[in-house]
Amino acid sequence: MPSKLRARCAPARPPQSRPPATPASWLRSLLALTSLALAAACSVPARADTAPAGRYRATAKVSSLEQAAAQGAQVFANDTFGTRQTWVPPNAFNSHLMTCAACHTDGGRPEGSTPAGQPIPSLIGAAARYPKFKGKKREVYTLERQIVHCVRAGILGKPPAYDSPEMVDLVAYLTQLSRGATMGTQFSR
Ligand code: HEC
Repeated sequence: MPSKLRARCAPARPPQSRPPATPASWLRSLLALTSLALAAACSVPARADTAPAGRYRATAKVSSLEQAAAQGAQVFANDTFGTRQTWVPPNAFNSHLMTCAACHTDGGRPEGSTPAGQPIPSLIGAAARYPKFKGKKREVYTLERQIVHCVRAGILGKPPAYDSPEMVDLVAYLTQLSRGATMGTQFSR
């Protein structure tokens, strides 16, 4: 049911049209540039959820599973999957391109909801509950298939291929969020 699911995956805020340049907007741009310059001057590494959104390319070659999961966290926070859909983060001056993190805040840990009141689940333990039976579709979704669904219906972007580094690393990241969770609780027998 794509239309219903699309509604469930509605953006946190409706897309905004670019307002005309006013003295206030110039001042905001200047402030934004100043904070960027300040950020560049600091040697503290940027947190994954504060890096600028764009096309994040994960590398296939990594030196550990943890490194893959760290790349997955970057994809989660910053990859826009080629979307043109924007949203306005709380307390931000401008709109950002859509990412996983637009809906799944704080790396996907807390529960949330869209303005339409649709629940957004916490992703802690989620990976342990896949494959999952989707009753309305009468299909079994793997974790990868769910990620593809969220990219299509939530981000309105081009989903990563199942064997791409971006997909592999997202799965590694989501599985790390489920570290220690009991597997298979979705089965009744
Ligand atoms: C526009 C909002 C939105 C965006 C963007 C979004 N999601 Fe979701 N996500 C949801 C909602 C709502 C659900 C719950 C309904 C569903 O399963 O589709 C969900 C469910 C999930 C689930 C299943 C959780 C469970 O317990 O079954 C996973 C995993 C997930 N998202 C990962 C991602 C990833 C990875 C991205 C980025 C590629 C992403 N999401 C982008 C809204 C979004």
